[in-house]
Amino acid sequence: MNKLRFFALLLAFAPALGLAAGGGPLESSGTDLSDKASLQRGAGLFMNYCSGCHALSLHRYSRIASDLDLEPAVVEATLMQGDANIGENINTGIAAGDGQAWFGKAPPDLSLTARARLGGPDWIYSYLKGFYVDETRPAGWNNTVFPGASMPHVLWELQGIQRPVYEQGADGMTHVAKLELAKPGRLDAKQYDQVARDISAFLEYVAEPAALKREAIGVWVILFLAFFTFLAYLLKVEYWRDVH
Ligand code: HEC
Repeated sequence: MNKLRFFALLLAFAPALGLAAGGGPLESSGTDLSDKASLQRGAGLFMNYCSGCHALSLHRYSRIASDLDLEPAVVEATLMQGDANIGENINTGIAAGDGQAWFGKAPPDLSLTARARLGGPDWIYSYLKGFYVDETRPAGWNNTVFPGASMPHVLWELQGIQRPVYEQGADGMTHVAKLELAKPGRLDAKQYDQVARDISAFLEYVAEPAALKREAIGVWVILFLAFFTFLAYLLKVEYWRDVH
């Protein structure tokens, strides 16, 4: 009973713990793994804007083709870079040492980030929306969800440039109360949310490719169980007719 209560408590406080670990409140990403178009857009955005620094070394291009219903030729023409082969894992052009030297931190492999970070896709979504200008940081950017992150805001041309509005907290420290759009980007807020959602969904899928199939199979399992229950019911009626 005590153990049970402990887990119930842990569950109840999980969002609060996530908040503490993440540095800021997370927004709900609204990702939908059954939305193939969103995953396809996410793959394109990732290859364009992120793969220059981040690898997905546990994932192969060919797997993207089969999972996301894309022709291998389309994947080769639109998603692959350099002279990579479609059977290869998704690597980045940056050597770990260069990343360390250029950004002060090597850009991590993102294969499992959607599972490793508390909040999963919501964390990534909020992170992509949480960049703001901060002259005190080497790259000139900071992040509400990941304070002190050494990644520059690579999507600023799409989102625009956000400025922080500070407030004095009860603890006497200054905090970022909210972000204001100082300079608009090419997209409006709703369109940028969709970009962040598509990338988060793609990374959620990459972190657990089997989830796509599992969710699709789940429907059939439920249908089978419903059908089986119906059969069992008919059988019961049949047996009880003899008993009465
Ligand atoms: C110019 C190089 C560069 C590009 C391009 C880039 N990142 Fe990063 N990213 C970094 C670096 C460096 C870090 C490490 C930050 C740190 O730990 O301080 C990082 C960290 C991250 C993290 C946090 C990983 C973790 O769990 O610590 C995520 C998520 C992420 N990047 C997503 C993206 C996405 C999505 C894109 C494309 C929209 C992208 N990055 C493009 C350099 C880059």
